[in-house]
Order: sequence, then C-alpha cells, then structure tokens
Amino acid sequence: MQAQDARKLAVARAALAYVPSGEVIGVGTGSTANFFIDLLKSERVSIEGAVASSQATAARLKAHGFDVLELNDVNGLSVYIDGADEFDPQLCLIKGGGAALTREKIVAAASQRFVCIVDDSKRVDRLGRFPLPIEVIPMARSYVARELVKLGGHPVYREGVVTDNGNCILDVWGLDIHDPVHLEARLDQLTGTVCNGLFARRRADIVLVASDAGVQCLQHPAEAVPRQS
Ligand code: 5RP
Repeated sequence: MQAQDARKLAVARAALAYVPSGEVIGVGTGSTANFFIDLLKSERVSIEGAVASSQATAARLKAHGFDVLELNDVNGLSVYIDGADEFDPQLCLIKGGGAALTREKIVAAASQRFVCIVDDSKRVDRLGRFPLPIEVIPMARSYVARELVKLGGHPVYREGVVTDNGNCILDVWGLDIHDPVHLEARLDQLTGTVCNGLFARRRADIVLVASDAGVQCLQHPAEAVPRQS
C-alpha cells in the first residue's frame, strides 16, 4: 500500500471511535471516505444505516450490506464522517474534489457533529492552494465564470463531469480566501451557482489528521472526547 493510502486508512480507522452504535450516520465521498466505509464492514460496526453524500458512496455502502436512507426520512444525524481537499487552522475546509460538494454540504448541515478525516497533505495555513470547486447550473456556466473572474478567480470548467444533481463544476484558481466565511456567503449570492466548496459557516467540528507520526485530533474547545453509545 502507498504511504498516502496507509495514512488515509489510519485516519479512517480513527474515525470509527466517533460512530455512535445503532444510529444512522452520514457518510461522505472520496478515497478516504471509501476506506472508512470498508472499515465499517470489516470491523463489523453496528449502525442502523447511513445517509450517503453521493451515488458512489450509496453504492459502496449498499454493496457492503448497509441500509442507505434518504436524508428526508431521518430526523437529523448525530455525526457525519467525510474527507476534504484542504483544511485550515480554524477547521474551515475546501471540499468538492470528487464533485459531491452540494450533497456533502447538505449532510454536514444536517449533522450535529462533522468529523473530517484527512492526511497531512491537506493541511494549509490559508485555504486556496487547491482550486475551489463550484457546482453550477449548466446554462449558467459561462455567466458564473465571468462573475468569478470579476472576483479575481480563474475558473476552469471540469470537462466531462456531471454531478449527481445533473450540474457542472467550475474549479476556481487564485481566489483570495483570507476570510472563508465571507467568501462562502459572497459566492452563494452568484445566480446560477448551486453550491461552493467552502465549508466555513458549517466547518468541521473535529479534524482527524494522519501523518507519519500517527493520527492527530484537532477540535474546537467545545468539542468533547469521542462519544460512544
Ligand atoms: C468529494 C470531496 C472529498 O472529500 C475530497 O475530494 C477528498 O477526497 P479524498 O479523500 O479522495 O482525498 O470533497 O467531493
């Protein structure tokens, strides 16, 4: 196994401690989330079911025999486990490298606790090294791209990608993300935009970071130790 995959596996394993037994949990998208899903199965973790942030995640959960529920059919979620493309010291994130940002943001919003699982290559002092994904209604793509240029960004159309919601993705380079909460709100105002990949208003509550030294837990002071039930 490659070193980065070993770190993803390690951090996915650490996240198991945050899974409340017998409950419905939210499960994210991407290679780190996939390690987590596989561990849910191999470690025989007892959950009632899962709400998936993408069709790919739903398919993987079902293939392992887990019940996949619609978010509309559950009364909120106690925990959401997902990866990220970048995290900063305030636990704000860039997400959407796998084009699942909209559903990820919805599931994160509906969850009491968002546990983000990453390897240390995702750590930055300021968000923006990774291009910011933005999900856009197809007919608005060029208009939104021009508006993003006015904001100082360099949008690149992610060719050949259609999101689970039938939309397209613009990856935006060069944005000044010194105030992620403000920029997230500003981008939300662009007509034709479905969602942007800044997770700053609803940031992670806990970021588990795997490095060669082991798994580090970053959290807000209000966050307690892992909950078990
Ligand atoms: C998908 C995401 C993923 O969480 C993000 O791209 C990280 O993926 P990986 O775990 O494969 O590095 O936001 O939309």
